[in-house]
Amino acid sequence: MIVVRDLTDLRDRLGDWRAQGLTIGLVPTMGALHAGHLSLIDILRKRTDRVVVSIFLNPKQFDSDADLERYPRDLDSDVAQLAGQGTDLVYAPSAEEMYPQGFATTVSVAGLTDSLEGAHRQGHFIGVATVVAKLLIQCQPDAALFGEKDYQQLAVLSRLVADLDLPVEIVPGPIVREADGLALSSRNAYLSAEERQIAPKLYETLIDLAARAEAGEALAGLEAEGAATLLAAGFDHVDYLEFRDADSLEPVATLNQPTRLLAVARLGETRLLDNLPVG
Ligand code: PAF
Repeated sequence: MIVVRDLTDLRDRLGDWRAQGLTIGLVPTMGALHAGHLSLIDILRKRTDRVVVSIFLNPKQFDSDADLERYPRDLDSDVAQLAGQGTDLVYAPSAEEMYPQGFATTVSVAGLTDSLEGAHRQGHFIGVATVVAKLLIQCQPDAALFGEKDYQQLAVLSRLVADLDLPVEIVPGPIVREADGLALSSRNAYLSAEERQIAPKLYETLIDLAARAEAGEALAGLEAEGAATLLAAGFDHVDYLEFRDADSLEPVATLNQPTRLLAVARLGETRLLDNLPVG
């Protein structure tokens, strides 16, 4: 496995592979890798000849310095986990490499980013879209994989790729869960032992609400009940819990179209995201 830190090296290596007619897959990450990331690599490994994993803790997508500061980072451990897991190249640029002095361009995707995470994290999706546009242009992969846990991010990046005619296939990666249902996330490391006991209630509640929606119960009532259930279970706050159109992410009142149930609930300072297909 090759580790490169700058764009010139990256282009040299990827150019060699392309000259040999090999296809390239990209898994963008911010490090703090866990089994969920490794499963994404496995999915891509089956579709492309070479797999690149980027590790870049993108400061532009954090809306608070405190959140950025406490985000776990350990490049050596990330690289050790990737070695022998089917990754061919790790691209780990520095912040100066990604955003050199004078960097002034941003990419923003309208509409899809207005609500849900966009409403709770100022500037988040501009940071995500800007860095992912750069990574896709830098690596020019045939396929790029993004996890469904960040479902709105996946929708936003699919829109970005379509709108900018980027010749890359976006591959969704299914959510990977702990045995008790908690979706894997780098942020789970923040949970205290007590919070960790409460956390799986999020998935449990979503499963129950999705089944009842499919059985014909009114969606608005289920949303209100779901939020109350989470608060009663010990969550400190529910940022949102909503049934949305699976493609446009517009609110829905009935299950007449592919639908997604999306939620974020907080335990202390930790925001837990989860979502499920419905219907
Ligand atoms: O999902 C993530 O880890 C990040 O938002 C991404 C896509 C790597 C961009 O920094």
